[in-house]
Amino acid sequence: MKKILIAPSILSADFANLAKDVSMVESAGADWLHVDVMDGHFVPNITIGPVVVKSIKKYSKLFFDVHLMITNPEKYWESFYKAGADLIVFHNEVSCDKKQLIQEIKKAGIKAGVSIKPKTPVSDILEILPLVDVVLIMTVEPGFGGQSFMGDMVPKISSLRKIIDDNKYNCLIEIDGGINDKTAKVCIDAGADVLVSGSYIFAAQNPQQVLKGLKSL
Ligand code: DX5
Ligand code: ZN
Repeated sequence: MKKILIAPSILSADFANLAKDVSMVESAGADWLHVDVMDGHFVPNITIGPVVVKSIKKYSKLFFDVHLMITNPEKYWESFYKAGADLIVFHNEVSCDKKQLIQEIKKAGIKAGVSIKPKTPVSDILEILPLVDVVLIMTVEPGFGGQSFMGDMVPKISSLRKIIDDNKYNCLIEIDGGINDKTAKVCIDAGADVLVSGSYIFAAQNPQQVLKGLKSL
């Protein structure tokens, strides 16, 4: 059985006690740390910038998965790289030279990923698929934590799995939005490799137990 990676999203953590919450998920066995960056333009919400990433990086050895829900990733990715990002995920819906962006991120020695919103079909990323390390499929509209999983995204996961396997691409499928024990199982069965989970973990009575439960699926 392949190993599924769990990436807790700090969007639902206690921002006044970030370091504490990060060590809590790290000691419970989190594989990646998912950092949601929102600019109030690409999505109707504003979250954190590179200074926060730089600060929490000092307290954690986790792999930092930085999800840029911003209009100009080509302008800002480097400051997140310098702050400690190990993976930069940008959105396919932005208009910039994506091949060049991927090339620049990889040249810096970190991983590059592309994300698609619920209405964006997998066919839109076929051209850059051989170049990216991760595809992040959104299973909620980006912008907020705590939304319900969109079940109609599951065929997208399976079709991407088939394309990656058929072409032997070296690319992980990451799923983001509404992940809990039930939806996680559905995503794993459809071919997911990495599961982001925010509110399900951080709003739980016992977040460490919930995280361990996700890891044991
Ligand atoms: C939504 C973010 C997600 C969010 C997931 O725009 O990209 O990473 O934090 O939160 P939950 O798991 O609560 O849906
Ligand atoms: Zn995210």
